[in-house]
Amino acid sequence: MKVLVSGRLPEAVIRSIAAEHEVEVNSNDYPMERSEILARLPDKQGFLCMITDSVDAELLDHAPQLKMIANYGVGYNNIDLAAATARGIPVSNTPGVLTDATADAAFALMLACARRVVEGDRRTRQGRFKHWAPLHFLGTEVSGKTLGIVGLGRIGRAVCRRAAGFGMRVLYHSRHRLPAEDEADLSVTHAGLHELLAEADFVSLHVPLTEHTRHLIGAGELRRMKPTAYLINTARGPVVDEKALVQALREGRIAGAGLDVYENEPDLAPGLAERENTVLLPHIGSATIETRTRMAELAAENLLAGLRGQRPPNCLNCQQIYGS
Ligand code: DGY
Repeated sequence: MKVLVSGRLPEAVIRSIAAEHEVEVNSNDYPMERSEILARLPDKQGFLCMITDSVDAELLDHAPQLKMIANYGVGYNNIDLAAATARGIPVSNTPGVLTDATADAAFALMLACARRVVEGDRRTRQGRFKHWAPLHFLGTEVSGKTLGIVGLGRIGRAVCRRAAGFGMRVLYHSRHRLPAEDEADLSVTHAGLHELLAEADFVSLHVPLTEHTRHLIGAGELRRMKPTAYLINTARGPVVDEKALVQALREGRIAGAGLDVYENEPDLAPGLAERENTVLLPHIGSATIETRTRMAELAAENLLAGLRGQRPPNCLNCQQIYGS
């Protein structure tokens, strides 16, 4: 069969696909242009796509032979799952393998914001570290503070486990409350979103992007946060109303923000880059050699299983495609 891989992946992974199929790969590190994807898909049975590819009904109409879509990423808001399901195409993602890397990134942002790491680095390089002084460059402590986790899936839980090491009190908000036993195991307390926002010193977002979570954090929610609190987003940009965030940062209504994702990636909302009280990363939450390799392997495993007519290990629409 024929496969399109729209992003550059480790050679060994491409070889594992090429052992069974004819593969076309994007050989550079830029996202493949949509027009190119549309031109290449018509004769393909397999598509290993990137989170930057919008796999919508129009694209699927250009791919009448498609039998399997394997997303390179756990978040799959880039894929119209209903449209793929309606065409009988299984879709998979890469859960689990990026949990720790993403939780580490959330913590890195938290620490960088609280201890002004990036600002300090900038100053030092500019030759502006002239002397040590007791009240110089003060940040805020992370240890012992209250962390509010919004979305307690795999990554939210991994952030909880890290927070325990910092002696933090953890509040969580999620659609489904955990059984009391699990709350005790994780040392977390359930809270309504408003209560969490009002109490947390750090609010870390770990929800997928859906119609329910788009702009979950807007002007009203930012207003509920403490002026000393930080917002951390390693989930998806549109979960936060970025314009409202810039306004809140500008007016000092919150202390700062650590962001890995943006509403209109790779563009930033006007004014965001100018704020000193932000740490801004280029969507690298899962970007470790180990994790990105494992993601590629898992995406390939899913793709190959689907093309063999087997259930992909991480199928998102299996129920509808294969039955129970
Ligand atoms: C994902 O897997 O959804 C991440 O955003 C990619 O790093």
